[in-house]
Amino acid sequence: MTIKAYVYDAYGTLFDVHSVSEKAESIFKGYGKTISEQWRKKQVEYFMLHQLTKKYKPFFEITRNALLYTLKNLSLQRKENEIDTLMQSYLELEVYDEVRDTLEILQKQNKKQIIFSNGNYEMLNPLVEKRELNHLLYVLSVDDIKQYKPAPDAYKYAQETLDVERYEILFMSSNFWDITGAASFGFKTAWINRGEMEVDELGIKPDFIFKDLHAITKI
Ligand code: LAC
Repeated sequence: MTIKAYVYDAYGTLFDVHSVSEKAESIFKGYGKTISEQWRKKQVEYFMLHQLTKKYKPFFEITRNALLYTLKNLSLQRKENEIDTLMQSYLELEVYDEVRDTLEILQKQNKKQIIFSNGNYEMLNPLVEKRELNHLLYVLSVDDIKQYKPAPDAYKYAQETLDVERYEILFMSSNFWDITGAASFGFKTAWINRGEMEVDELGIKPDFIFKDLHAITKI
């Protein structure tokens, strides 16, 4: 298998979206984990709906709206500055332990590496810089074309930007909906199954299933 480009999902794959729970717990004691889980679930639901109804909104706005709903749903009174504090935590997410080493190994092999994310640049760039990954990979956002993954046009944009064949791209995501979209479009896929979940009943078989990213350096 000739891999000419390594394409990474951001949230859940390189960065731990649930690292927001610590900040959430400090503001809403006893609710940190619940807020984080419901917030991510609602965020995914919202961008899928915006995509299906062709009413694109930037990911930052969708993420903020998902947070507002989550706090309302949990009957948690919140102040404006608390929302801003939690949104700021999205720009400071923890990076998974094996990410830096993996990216450095592949950089030494002169492999092309990009993030391809539903996040918009105002969310992604500060995060990639904060975690000092900006010298290791290029950031590409669906915000350029206003089409969310898993829509085929999103993956088409990434392929055209990379200027390689679909089968020459190895796409990594921890989100099975994202693996489904990428595999359906024709990318090679490695599902980073961090949550040790079952394969979804979507008629899609990832080319690889790994528990973390390091294994991709051995392909
Ligand atoms: C991403 C999130 C939505 O595209 O997983 O990075």
